[in-house]
Amino acid sequence: MPVSARIVVLISGSGSNLAALLDACADPGYGATVVAVGADRDGIAGLDRAAAAGLPSFVERVKDHPSRDAWDVALTQRVAEHKPDLVISAGFLKLVGDHFLTAFGDRYLNTHNALLPAFPGIHGPRDALDYGVKLAGATLFFVDAGVDTGPIVAQTAVPVLPDDTEETLTERIKVAERKQLVDNVGRLVREGWTITERKVTIP
Ligand code: GRF
Repeated sequence: MPVSARIVVLISGSGSNLAALLDACADPGYGATVVAVGADRDGIAGLDRAAAAGLPSFVERVKDHPSRDAWDVALTQRVAEHKPDLVISAGFLKLVGDHFLTAFGDRYLNTHNALLPAFPGIHGPRDALDYGVKLAGATLFFVDAGVDTGPIVAQTAVPVLPDDTEETLTERIKVAERKQLVDNVGRLVREGWTITERKVTIP
């Protein structure tokens, strides 16, 4: 990794994970710089955060392309223009395709708001609550071709409280999730990593 690793962050929503990364990157010792933000939709708070930070951003909407595959090619191209060392999906609600994974598959991270392999998909906290688990949390992993199935970098747990709603549990998870993301991205860029089968090791 270079002295300051180049990160592209992909978002679809409020961008609180992006904001946490931007705060961390303000410290030169952190070892990374967010060089661009990409989204799959307009009008989201995360793009406003990127603009406020003076960062270049881009939007690639699936519906603007003749096929999902064409969208995947376009997204890959937009990300590649920024020459990232690491790409981070932080609440990015799209599964990327083969083109993207060929370009970035060994350095494309996602943060998911459940303790995988339980509760993959877009309703992690709701599914955890409905199931009645007593521990919930977040998983940081390298993306592979499956849905939330890639090699795991880190996991963090939070309690599920008796009076939790989807909103309260989601918020408790997000607090732990942001810290996990910032701590582990910092370690990855500063120390490097290896992936052996499903095992991620940070030396
Ligand atoms: C995160 O909790 C992520 O796990 C989920 O969406 C949330 C994104 O939040 N998929 P934000 O946009 O970073 O605030």
